[in-house]
Amino acid sequence: QKETYILAIETSCDETAAAIIKDGTEVVANVVATQIESHKRFGGVVPEIASRHHVEQMTIVLEEVFAKANMTMEQIDAVAVTEGPGLVGALLVGVSSAKALAYAHQKPLIGVHHIAGHIYANRLQEEFTFPLLALVVSGGHTELILMKEHGVFEVIGETRDDAAGEAYDKVARTLDLPYPGGPEVDRLAQLGEDTLSFPRAWLEEDSYDFSFSGLKSAVINTLHNAKQKGNDLKRENIAASFQASVIDVLTEKTYRAAKDHQVNQVIIAGGVAANKGLRASLEEKFKEESIQLSIPPLWLCTDNAAMIGAAGTIAYQKGNRAGWDMNANPGLDL
Ligand code: KG4
Ligand code: ZN
Repeated sequence: QKETYILAIETSCDETAAAIIKDGTEVVANVVATQIESHKRFGGVVPEIASRHHVEQMTIVLEEVFAKANMTMEQIDAVAVTEGPGLVGALLVGVSSAKALAYAHQKPLIGVHHIAGHIYANRLQEEFTFPLLALVVSGGHTELILMKEHGVFEVIGETRDDAAGEAYDKVARTLDLPYPGGPEVDRLAQLGEDTLSFPRAWLEEDSYDFSFSGLKSAVINTLHNAKQKGNDLKRENIAASFQASVIDVLTEKTYRAAKDHQVNQVIIAGGVAANKGLRASLEEKFKEESIQLSIPPLWLCTDNAAMIGAAGTIAYQKGNRAGWDMNANPGLDL
């Protein structure tokens, strides 16, 4: 049987990325141009700057991925691109580029949901065994997703307010840590202890939903009160206490959902999956279980196009094709 080669493009936020994926499981070439330095001095991603950088970087990144793979467009079976969710101006650059390439070379075009990509990043490391539970924790999403077959996603829990990564970034800002805050809070947390016992938002007993805004406010209030009273709180302990609260809830709810749905595999995905504390906590929780726990390498956790190619291959094999009228969709449903 002939191999399938997918060219994938991802520009939903502040990474301009392209990859070539073979048969949905093998990375032939992967290029990521990050814009972190350009956004750092603003303390977060500036959408207009992100779009402009994508325009500047896109052709360079594409040329590099083909050079690395030693391939040409003629050898590609289809072009997959992140259709949404994300920043509309940023997404548009990827979608327009994918359309142009696919149209010029008469290849099928495939729209991919960014979160499907994060989940499928794991398949570049390990084959899926269903039923499978995915904990997706990124800057914009916190979701527990149940999968019984390829390409079908059932959201069984989600955040009711802030996403986990968003809470990390906001807490980082109150601690005067640079953007992106998640890795900085993670690093500090390793040096401190959970001395503050912030609240854990368990919600209703049977709920797989999450809430992080209360915790975020508790951190901000604690810092504010300490400052007013002239108390000196150690930043390491604030970070460690915040992180312990987030991780406790993520770990417990993931474990309970995995047991309730009798899954064979648990995977984690998204930028916050890079968190050292979360990775260790899940490993500890599942170590005595027969459920297989998959933790992706760091380069597969943060935004990249390899994951879009992995998810795009499934869509391609299922016969899903986008029309030339496909548009960037910042609010796309999974
Ligand atoms: O998946 P991602 O790269 O982009 C989105 O799709 O949102 O996730 C970015 C998020 C940011 O909020 C960042 O602070 C967070 O992931 N993050 C982390 C860590 N590394 C990245 N959060 C906690 N600990 C980390 N080590
Ligand atoms: Zn992402």
